[in-house]
Amino acid sequence: MTSSPLTLFHLSDIHFGLEDKRALAWVREEITARRPDAVVITGDHTMRARHHEFAAATRWINALEVPVTIAIGNHDMPYFNLFERFTTPYKRFEGMKALVEREIDLPGLAIVPLKSVRRWQPRTNWSKGWVTEPALERCLAMLDRLPAGTATLISVHHPLREVGTHGTALTHGGEKALAELAKRGVLGVLSGHVHDAFDIAEPTPEGTVRMIGAGTLSQRTRSTPPSFNELVWDGENLTVAVRNLEHVPSEAMLIEDVPADAMPPRTPGEPVAPVGQVPAVDPPVH
Ligand SMILES: [Fe+2]
Repeated sequence: MTSSPLTLFHLSDIHFGLEDKRALAWVREEITARRPDAVVITGDHTMRARHHEFAAATRWINALEVPVTIAIGNHDMPYFNLFERFTTPYKRFEGMKALVEREIDLPGLAIVPLKSVRRWQPRTNWSKGWVTEPALERCLAMLDRLPAGTATLISVHHPLREVGTHGTALTHGGEKALAELAKRGVLGVLSGHVHDAFDIAEPTPEGTVRMIGAGTLSQRTRSTPPSFNELVWDGENLTVAVRNLEHVPSEAMLIEDVPADAMPPRTPGEPVAPVGQVPAVDPPVH
């Protein structure tokens, strides 16, 4: 039980290099004015993991004067330099490494990291998620060390959806991870990657887990304008508001299912939020 409600801002997929400057300035102002108890950023801080993109991300994130934890996204791994990708894949996080996959302990609530990226994968698409056994074990060990009765949220880049609407694996190992998290009664799994927000009760053999996704703060929008999630935990209920500059209500910002992939153009049948803004292509990456 918490003494007073906790407020968390869940941001994702800022993609410095192709960030939405207006949205980001607004989020910074909101954080300064509201001072949430923590900010969770679920990965894809950069567009192509370039040094200047990491420098901008590091400056922006380090300037936040509240507790921050960040997850590593597939776009944050060296993209052009394969040698570095294989040998020191997280070197570019140097300037903010204290925040990377950091556990945050608030009164009655803990935010626990889970890694879903790999430096290589035995399949052609390395942008998809993969929760390895060691990564899951690290996360579960952190959960198991918490005092009994602590409410927990998981921070991970990829939604832990093994099979999407079209039967494509989005996150290898996701199903097992979800079941283990359900067994431990986590409050929710916070993720990003698909650039639209969602709040889904996902059934697993061990019970239901709430999967909460934040949209993007970049120009790579999918079916909703740039947004972030404001979470309030009052010790009993966790509420999610999808905040955006267009004042679109939360319900209209949420997709009803997690798409099998995170790339436009969208194909018929893929989940699209009721707000209905569907750009055909991403803005070009320079
Ligand atoms: Fe991603």
